[in-house]
Amino acid sequence: MLLLNTHRDYGRDLDPADAATLGPAGAAAIARHLARRPGHAPTPLHALPGLAGALGIGGLSIKDEGQRLGLGSFKALGGAYAVIRLVLEEAAARLGRTLDDGEIDDAAVRAIAAGMTFACATDGNHGRSVAQGAQLVGARSVVFVHGGVSDERVAAIARFGAEMVRVAGTYDDSIVEAARVADSQGWTVVSDTSWEGYERIPGLVMQGYTAIAQEAFAQLPERPTHVFVQAGVGGIAAALAAQMQTRFGADRPFFTVVEPELAACIFAAARQGRPVKIAHGAPTVMAMLECYDPSPLALRVLYRAADAFLTAADSDAIEAMNRLARPVGSDPAIVAGESGAAGLAGLLAALRSPEARAALRLDDRSRVLLVNTEGATDPTRYAELVGLSPDEVSKSRPA
Ligand SMILES: Cc1ncc(COP(=O)(O)O)c(C=O)c1O
Repeated sequence: MLLLNTHRDYGRDLDPADAATLGPAGAAAIARHLARRPGHAPTPLHALPGLAGALGIGGLSIKDEGQRLGLGSFKALGGAYAVIRLVLEEAAARLGRTLDDGEIDDAAVRAIAAGMTFACATDGNHGRSVAQGAQLVGARSVVFVHGGVSDERVAAIARFGAEMVRVAGTYDDSIVEAARVADSQGWTVVSDTSWEGYERIPGLVMQGYTAIAQEAFAQLPERPTHVFVQAGVGGIAAALAAQMQTRFGADRPFFTVVEPELAACIFAAARQGRPVKIAHGAPTVMAMLECYDPSPLALRVLYRAADAFLTAADSDAIEAMNRLARPVGSDPAIVAGESGAAGLAGLLAALRSPEARAALRLDDRSRVLLVNTEGATDPTRYAELVGLSPDEVSKSRPA
C-alpha cells in the first residue's frame, strides 16, 4: 500500500527544536563523539549498478550498517551515544565544569557513572547499544525484553554486562514496564521512542542516527533522487528525513518511509493525520520493525519531511535479503537481516506496481539510496531465510 503525504504540516520547515536536535548542529555533535569512540569507522556505502539495471532504475546505493561499532546494526549509534551524553551532562553538573566526549575515562567521571543506572526496552538492537554505552562509561544497565525476543538476541545484549528482564506481552508492554520500574528505582530511561513529556532522550538517540546521513552525503558521488528508509517507531526515518530537509530544503530527495504491512503504525498515523496506536496482528518477519505505536517526535518530523508512506510484505523482505545475498554482475554481496533489507523490500514492492512507480516518480533516471539497517543479528534465522550462512555470503564478496 502506498500513501502520499497530505498532512497539513507537509512541506513546512521543521519545528525549531527538532531542527536543532536533528539538523546540522546535531549531526556535528555525533560526529565529534564518533571521532573519539574507540574502534569507530564510517560504514561502507555500496553502489549496486547490477541490481539497479535489473530493476530498471538509474542507480542504487546502500549504506551498510551491518558492522556499525561492532554491534551489527545502526542502533549502535543511538543508545550508546545518549547514555554517554547523559553521563557527561551529569558529571559536568556535579563537577562544575564543561566536559567533552574524550573525558569519559576521567576517574571523576567514571565514579559518577558508576552510580547511574540506565534502563530501556528493546526487541534487540537498541538494548545492545544502551548496554554497550553503559559498559563503556562504567554505568549499570537494565534491559527489558518481551517474550518474542530470541535467546540469541538476549545473550548478545547480556554480553555487554546488562541485567536482563523478561516481560510478558509485546514490545509496547516492555516499554511500559521499563518506564515503571525505572521510575520507582530512580533510574534513567534511555528509550528509542518518545511519548508525551519525554522527548529529550529519544531526541539524543535519534541525533546519533543522523551520522548515517552525514557519512552517506560524503560518500555518494551524486545526490540521490529517492531515499527509502524503513520504520519501526519512526526514529531512523525521521532522523534521516530531517537531515535531507535541513540540508537540501525543497530540493531534497523524494523520501519514502517503508513499514511491514503487518505493523504499519506510521502509515496509519499518516492516513489519519494524527498519532494512532494500531491493533496488534500476526508477527512480521521484519521483527525489529514490529511496532504498533509510533514515536510522536518522529511523526512530527515525518509529517513535514516525508513524501510518501509505503508498506511491504514479509515476502518482499525475504526477496530483498536474497537479492542482496546473491548479487547481480559485479555488485558486492551484502548480508542484510530481515529488517535491514526492508528499504529494498519497499522499493521492490513499489516497482512492481505501475501506479506506485508513477506516484513515486521512479524511472530509469532515478538514483535510489537505501540503508541496510542491520546485518544478520540473528544468524540462525538468516540462514533459514536465505539458504546461506552470513559467513558464506560475506566470503562470496570479491576482495
Ligand atoms: C534493524 C532495524 N532497522 C530499523 C529499525 C527501525 O528503527 P525505528 O524504530 O527508529 O523506526 C530498527 C528498530 O529497532 C532496527 O533494529
